[in-house]
Amino acid sequence: MQHIVLKSYCDGLPKPTDFALEEIETPKPEDGQFLVRHIWASVDPGSRSRLSGRDSYTGAQALGEAMGGFNVGIVEASENSDWPVGKLVTCAGGWATHSIQTGRGFLAPIPKGLDLPLSYWIGVLGVPGLTGWFGLKRVGVFKPADRVLVTSAAGPVGATAGQLAKAGGARQVVGIAGSDEKCRWLIKEAGFDHAINYKTTGDLDAAISEAMPKGIDILFDNVGNTMVERCLPKMRLNGRIVVSGQVADYSLPLAERHGIQSTDVFITRRVRMEGLVVFDDARDFPDALTAMANMIAKGELQLKEERFDGLATMPDAFCGLFKGENFGRRVVKVGEE
Ligand SMILES: NC(=O)c1ccc[n+]([C@@H]2O[C@H](COP(=O)([O-])OP(=O)(O)OC[C@H]3O[C@@H](n4cnc5c(N)ncnc54)[C@H](OP(=O)(O)O)[C@@H]3O)[C@@H](O)[C@H]2O)c1
Repeated sequence: MQHIVLKSYCDGLPKPTDFALEEIETPKPEDGQFLVRHIWASVDPGSRSRLSGRDSYTGAQALGEAMGGFNVGIVEASENSDWPVGKLVTCAGGWATHSIQTGRGFLAPIPKGLDLPLSYWIGVLGVPGLTGWFGLKRVGVFKPADRVLVTSAAGPVGATAGQLAKAGGARQVVGIAGSDEKCRWLIKEAGFDHAINYKTTGDLDAAISEAMPKGIDILFDNVGNTMVERCLPKMRLNGRIVVSGQVADYSLPLAERHGIQSTDVFITRRVRMEGLVVFDDARDFPDALTAMANMIAKGELQLKEERFDGLATMPDAFCGLFKGENFGRRVVKVGEE
């Protein structure tokens, strides 16, 4: 089997040379374990938070350790009767052609009878889609008629959150994204009411105020402190800030991150700011996935996917996330279906 390891700690933006592809002996499952041959693998911006020797939602990644990520695969050898050979699964097997699974952790069978591409199970029907769902609904306590602003809105998390808000009766859904093409897609395909290209708009504060003159009930933030600071003064009474991700901050040392100044708004407008780690909601994943699969089948949930071919492309696919090169979920084909 092959896998990709962290070769050197990332300093600033990650580079493909920070990673190395290795060939190792395919492990044999022991009692209770099974071997999954991966078909699809994901690259996830959140992985960057562990690549500079700092702890994140789990401990810092060690040099030489295989990169984490999500997969769709097929059980190829099994010593666990609940997970027989031939079963299609989604799991956290990482940047690799195979993984050993124990039946615990992020792992689920792929339901039969749904005519959807397998790769969706690591996209809108995987961690990004679920983050959009639970970020908006549980952490954001979404209510119909809310006014919702989503940052990195054309990414798989943001696009899902915004569309779920719209489908749930939001009064207004506005997205911030880094290209005109992304903004057009948000309005024309994903049904956002308005989209702002933060790279060309000039005065982003004015653009947000103009787009949302009545203010923001939910800020669903995927970007980090700069965006939170810009939006804080525009939050409405009892507003909620969902800290989903910090893609602009992951590559910065703590001392260089933008500070948040307008904290008085937490008092004056009774604003709440809360982060999530989506796995905390694992018990409720099945219901969310059924609902989102139904929405996809009915054409009510749009998604963009960019497909790469071969394990060796994973470092490039990953590094591009931090330069805005991806338009939607990046998935990598690492084995045959
Ligand atoms: N909390 C959780 O449990 C959880 C789970 C999964 C993911 N997440 C987080 O959710 C966020 C979104 O994830 P995703 O998978 O949907 O990825 P994504 O939004 O597609 O992330 C990549 C995009 O981020 C934007 N970006 C990159 N650098 C930026 C910068 N310096 N300033 C502003 N925007 C920048 C770019 O879009 P533009 O072209 O628009 O700039 C880029 O295309 C990530 O922060 C991720 O870590 C959280």
